[in-house]
Parts: sequence; structure tokens; C-alpha cells
Amino acid sequence: MKNLRPVQVLLIGSLIVSFLSLLLLIVLNQSVAIPILYYLVFPLGIGGLTYLVFFVLLRRFITQKLKILYRSIRKGKIVNQQNENLSLFDDVIERAEVETKKWTEERTQEINKLKEQEEFRREFLGNLAHELKTPVFSIQGYILTLLEGGLEDENVNRQFLERASKATDRMTTILEDLDKIAKMEVGAIELEYQHFDIVELVEDIFDELERRAKKRDIKLKFAKDFDPIFVYADKGKITQVLTNLIGNSISYGSEGGESNIRFYILNNIITVEVSDNGPGIPEDDLPRLFERFYRVEKSRNRNAGGSGLGLAIARHFIEAHGQTISVRSTLGVGSTFTFGLDRGKRNLA
Ligand SMILES: Nc1ncnc2c1ncn2[C@@H]1O[C@H](COP(=O)(O)OP(=O)(O)O)[C@@H](O)[C@H]1O
Ligand SMILES: [Mg+2]
Repeated sequence: MKNLRPVQVLLIGSLIVSFLSLLLLIVLNQSVAIPILYYLVFPLGIGGLTYLVFFVLLRRFITQKLKILYRSIRKGKIVNQQNENLSLFDDVIERAEVETKKWTEERTQEINKLKEQEEFRREFLGNLAHELKTPVFSIQGYILTLLEGGLEDENVNRQFLERASKATDRMTTILEDLDKIAKMEVGAIELEYQHFDIVELVEDIFDELERRAKKRDIKLKFAKDFDPIFVYADKGKITQVLTNLIGNSISYGSEGGESNIRFYILNNIITVEVSDNGPGIPEDDLPRLFERFYRVEKSRNRNAGGSGLGLAIARHFIEAHGQTISVRSTLGVGSTFTFGLDRGKRNLA
């Protein structure tokens, strides 16, 4: 019964009415003589009339009901042009049912997504507050100690000021990163493309990070000797991405370990790989690693790294180049971060 179309219901109804009128004629025939032709014309006429009248009425009724339904769906921005002209020859009720169900599912998904984002925003604010509180409290502590007599104490005054200064540096890093992220999320990232040698860039970053690496006895090296490899990208942004990835391999790698840079050239894409032989990242954390402020084993690494925004920024930068960045990691073996760049031309810097 469920899949009867309105027109089929009408037909059945009209047939029943015809049949009833035929019965009526038979009953009447017992008192009045009715010509045989009437047995044909009368039921057909009544049936046809019933069909026509109810066709019009039913059509108006269904159209009205469904229009209300479709109008409310349309307010939710689902537009289905076909439904402007409802046809009783189609299974309109079933179709309305299917479409409402689809619409409800889509709305539910949308609402769930919004809920997730809201949750994410709450988490983000909480993290942000925490990240900023830590350095502010330590600055406050040093200043108070200095004010309460430490200033006159030659043994600690300089040291405390230096520590306070380090904490302000940390805050500056967080605020700068936050500023970058905020800008990126509002508008498009503007890229200044140029052709440059990525091998040379990595050498420069190695020089920059050498002191930090030495402190943890980590060797920064290329997987093999590479000739110059030219890429076409925003050099400043790629410098930030690589500085963070190599910086992370120093901060989170194992002491005495190494960071390895490798390049693959495939057609017009240069793939850059930064790997370490550190403790690795648990599989459960991998999908969330590129989120803002996301950190593995929060407490342990809090003071090791920067703002917790480095990988989020890196992903934004790489995606702005139309490429992707990904990570694979095995606990106890190490982690590898990989991203692509467009191949560039020599001497076109
Ligand atoms: N090479 C790595 N090995 C292990 N863990 C890593 C590595 N790189 C990143 N991580 C994890 O990912 C987190 C996010 O990194 P990132 O966004 O650069 O923030 P930050 O370096 O400021 O902590 C780090 O806190 C760390 O827990
Ligand atoms: Mg980092």
C-alpha cells in the first residue's frame, strides 16, 4: 500500500464508486425498468466524474501540504526545482518523505559539525589561556622576587632578569604565532613565490639551529649529498615550516639521535622529508597533530617547544601552496614529516 501513487488511489476509488452505482442501478431495476444502455453509461459517468472532481481536490490538498513542507526545507536552503509542479502521476508522498529524511540527515550532520567546532573553540580558548598563563606567572614571580630584595642580590638579580626575559620571549613567540594563525583563518594567505634552492635553505636552517641541536647532542644531516634542488614557493613561509619541523625533531627527538633531511623528485613535485629517530608519536595522536595547540603528552613537552602552533601554521602554509603535509611515526623508531613543493627553475630567484 505504501507505494501507491495518488492517481492510483483515485482510480481505485472511482472504480469502487462506479461499482456502487452499478449496484444501485440493479436495486432500482426491481421497481423501475431501466434500459440496458444505462448500465454502461451511468457507472462510467459517475466514475469519471468522481475521478475528475477528486483529482482536482486531491491535487490541491496534496500540493498545499507539500508546498508547506518544501517551503520550510527551502528555508534551510535545499532547493528542489522539480517540486514546483507536483504531479499526481508520481509518487509525490514517497518522494517528499525521502527528501525530508535526506534534509534531516544533512541538518543533523551540520549541527554535529557545529557542536564539534564549538567544542574545539572551547578547548582552544582553554589551551590559549594556559599557554599564556605559564610565562606570565613566571615573569610575575621573578619580578616579585627582585622587588622583594633580589634586585640587590648580585647572585640572582641578573639570572632572574634573564629568566624573565626568556619567559617574555616565549610569550612573544606564542603571540606572534597566534597572530599568524588568526590572520590565516580570516583571509587567504598571500604568498610571494620565487625560485630557490631548497638544499641551500636547509643548510642555512641547520646553521641557525646548530646550537640547539648540540645541546641535545642531535646531528642534523642530509640523507645523502644532494645537488641543488630548485623549488618554486614562498621562501619565507617554507623557512618557517622547515624551521619548525627540524626544530621539533631537535626538541622531541632522542638525545644523541639525528635529524635527517631527504628530497624526492617526482615529475614536477619535490617531496621534502624530515625524519628523526626519536621516541615517535602514538598512533592515536597522529590525526590531531596538526591542530592548534595540540601536543602529545602535554605535561612532558610543555617547556620543550614553542607555542604548540608550529604544525598548525605549517599545515596552513603548505596547503596555501596547494600541497599537503603529513606525518608517519612508529613508537620507539621515530617520526617522519613529509610535504610537497612545486619544482622550480635554476637562477630565476
Ligand atoms: N618529531 C617529533 N617527534 C615527536 N613528537 C613530535 C614531533 N614533532 C612534533 N611532535 C609533537 O607534536 C606537537 C606539536 O608540535 P608543534 O605544533 O610544532 O608545537 P610545539 O613544537 O610548539 O610543541 C609537539 O608538542 C609534540 O608533542
Ligand atoms: Mg614546534
